[in-house]
Amino acid sequence: VSLKSFNTFGIAAKALGLVRIRSVEDAQAFARLSLEQRAAELPPSKRVAPEWDALVLGGGSNMVLTGDVRRPVLKMEIMGKRIVEENEHGWLIEAGAGERWHDLVQWTVEHHMPGLENMALIPGTVGAAPVQNIGAYGVELKDRFHSLDAVDLWTGQRFNLDGAQCAFRYRDSIFKHVPAGAPRVAGLSGSSIAEGAGLQRLSASDLFFGSALNAQSLARPQAIAQGMGLAGRAVITHVRLWLPKQWTPVLDYHDLERCMAQTGVHSPNAQQIFDWVVQVRRDKLPDPQEIGNVGSFFKNPTVTAEQCNDIIAREPRIVHYPMPDGSVKLAAGWMIDACGWKGKSVGHAGVYPKQALVLVNLGKGDSSATGGEVMTLAKAIQTSVYERYGIRLEPEPVVV
Ligand code: EPU
Repeated sequence: VSLKSFNTFGIAAKALGLVRIRSVEDAQAFARLSLEQRAAELPPSKRVAPEWDALVLGGGSNMVLTGDVRRPVLKMEIMGKRIVEENEHGWLIEAGAGERWHDLVQWTVEHHMPGLENMALIPGTVGAAPVQNIGAYGVELKDRFHSLDAVDLWTGQRFNLDGAQCAFRYRDSIFKHVPAGAPRVAGLSGSSIAEGAGLQRLSASDLFFGSALNAQSLARPQAIAQGMGLAGRAVITHVRLWLPKQWTPVLDYHDLERCMAQTGVHSPNAQQIFDWVVQVRRDKLPDPQEIGNVGSFFKNPTVTAEQCNDIIAREPRIVHYPMPDGSVKLAAGWMIDACGWKGKSVGHAGVYPKQALVLVNLGKGDSSATGGEVMTLAKAIQTSVYERYGIRLEPEPVVV
């Protein structure tokens, strides 16, 4: 199977097969099959081999494929969106992992449930949104997140996680980190999966073999540092968001301030903010339907105030944002731009001329960029930013 149309970069990697997941039961059936296969083919000591872990595909909008994929590829197609609960304080909404994120945002805004408008037009699916804690124009998924349901592909069990358990950080969560330790291989028969089919809230010690952590300690980044990731292990099936009725617009982002100044509208409603965000994004970000890309290619790095002052001394114009904890976030796009990368390319991989943080596929049809070209370009950018500013840029998408 060609994965070209399943990743927004349009990289022509192949996979042995694609498993379409349209329900929770599909995900559990896949878990059962792969458990049986693992049990039959691999001795227990070898069962952690990463090539056995599934590659979970949502919209394929935050992933760079650097070669053919030998792991099972799960295409998440669980649909549906609904209001689970409404009370005087707000709305609890739920959507299937396969829904397009932007459709969900549009649906909530149209139905006068504000809160997601700043995250309009972010490519990808609902199920992918928690993986990297998507965010834009001052709002992150974690600010509206309630909980999610997932299936553990190592056991077939359903479980749910709240925000703390997801260990959300800037463009990061527990789902972006590879698990350490052996999977629980007890009870590989189908029946053990049937037993686990009821929805339950797993404690951290259920989730992680050999670890006695409680749910609270999972909230800390150390949980991830200790190797407690869920990448390839868990597949998100449903996401719930809490939208409070007491809505406060988030407008303190330079692009939105400009929209207010230009239109003269100083107390916009959610629909107006939605329209502005759509306009701003269309103006400076390439549409993946036309030019392959995965949004920002690097994270905005965080440095200490001292490091930032050092850089400012040399480069007074650098765009930077002081963070509540005293650290400072630097605009990676600005640094890449200042190093002269806009419009540069390696093979068919290029730097988008309107936003240096975005790498694009300049090829069409058979001549599309390869994962190798993209990574060569990315490494060259990292080197030049490092040489000039002493800052190591980290890729934002998952590199497969
Ligand atoms: N800048 C330049 N040259 C460039 C690009 C940016 O000088 O080529 C400057 C801009 O003028 C601005 C600053 O750098 O002063 C920041 O740029 P921008 O506001 O466009 O935002 P960003 O930091 O590049 C981040 C997110 C985007 C998100 C926007 C808006 C990351 C890695 N990226 O981009 O998210 O849409 O803010 O909130 O945090 C994504 O994650 O895929 C993504 C697109």
